[in-house]
Amino acid sequence: MASARALTRARNISDLRELAQLRVPRFSFEYVDGGAEDELTMAANRAAFAGVQILPRQLAGISSIDMSIDVMGEPSALPIVVAPTGYNGMLAKDGDLALARTALDAGFPFTQSTMSSSTIEEVAAAMVGGRHWFQLYMLKDTAITKRLVERALDAGCEALVLTSDAIVLGNREGDKHNYAGPGKLTWRAKIDVASRLSWVLDVVVPHGPPGFGNLTEFLPKGQSSAIDGARFISAQMDSALSWESVSWLRSIWPRKLVVKGIMRAEDALAAAERGVDAIVVSNHGGRQLDGAATSLGALPAISKTLDGRCEIFLDSGIRRGGDIFKAVALGANAVLCGRAMLYGLAAGGAAGASRSVEILRTELERTMMLAGQNSLRRIDTSALCERSPLLRR
Ligand SMILES: Cc1cc2nc3c(=O)[nH]c(=O)nc-3n(C[C@H](O)[C@H](O)[C@H](O)COP(=O)(O)O)c2cc1C
Repeated sequence: MASARALTRARNISDLRELAQLRVPRFSFEYVDGGAEDELTMAANRAAFAGVQILPRQLAGISSIDMSIDVMGEPSALPIVVAPTGYNGMLAKDGDLALARTALDAGFPFTQSTMSSSTIEEVAAAMVGGRHWFQLYMLKDTAITKRLVERALDAGCEALVLTSDAIVLGNREGDKHNYAGPGKLTWRAKIDVASRLSWVLDVVVPHGPPGFGNLTEFLPKGQSSAIDGARFISAQMDSALSWESVSWLRSIWPRKLVVKGIMRAEDALAAAERGVDAIVVSNHGGRQLDGAATSLGALPAISKTLDGRCEIFLDSGIRRGGDIFKAVALGANAVLCGRAMLYGLAAGGAAGASRSVEILRTELERTMMLAGQNSLRRIDTSALCERSPLLRR
């Protein structure tokens, strides 16, 4: 693990990324860090934030800053939700539990992936009193999907987040070169693993690499390794996912329902019409369709069309508090943070994840001060420069 001193010295998320790269094996780091194919969308996500400019107000008499905001109708300390990410146990021991507790302490929701290392029940027990959301991949076997939904309900999850943009796995070429075959690391990757002693002791000893906790009950006895789980899920991914699936989920899930991966205004409207409580404008952090539009670029049209019919979250490319400010100004209620949290987790476990939050919080606060805006609830496009390309529609 990176030392407490090294975590404190990390000035920003990019520094945490470097610490993560030093600590976890290359195959694990590249799984987190990479995107699909030529990573055009992943790069465009960052460029989109760079292209939006803030127009600061001066002499605004800012004596305090209010970064709280309502997320899904409930007050949240920050406009942040931890994004669902699979296989967190590969970055740090009990990685899902570390992220869940970090979110609990920070006062915002944690979204657990279907492909988490820990089970739904373990996460629920780790964040009693917190906001536990469960991300669902719709599977071909409806009985299994239903069982996962029931488990999320029984565990007290506040929201179900249906991922719509992964009906087939994105082509992550950067990830593939570490494998000689399915689940089989190359010799080079194995030697690299052997050189990461602190990671091996934390993650692999004494029980071996983590699997996918939620899937164990659906796999044959003795076949619950990560590769068994990965095979199962790729065979089960349902490319026939449609709006009927959303209506079906709406009929069996009585709490908050979110659809993640929406990029077009008409899809956002279709979701709202089916009783969805929130959408996540997302291109999956550039890990699915390379060449897809940026989520920040898609946000203004979606926000305008929805006109308050349901809440809007945004992810893909958030690395700075200033990015959060821009997303909120353009109409998002909150952002989901994927890699920004994972770099912290990979660098230093729970302490590293907390450092990610601290960095984002401090940056957002400073951005608001310098922008002359004291309340997140009141910022809108007037906080941005009219010459920002996204406002020129
Ligand atoms: C390592 C990793 C694993 C992910 N696993 C999932 C997943 O299981 N389900 C899901 O809906 N999205 C998954 N995502 C996508 C995130 O939820 C989110 O959309 C993305 O990370 C946002 O982009 P950002 O990383 O630039 O913040 C994953 C992303 C990463 C980086």
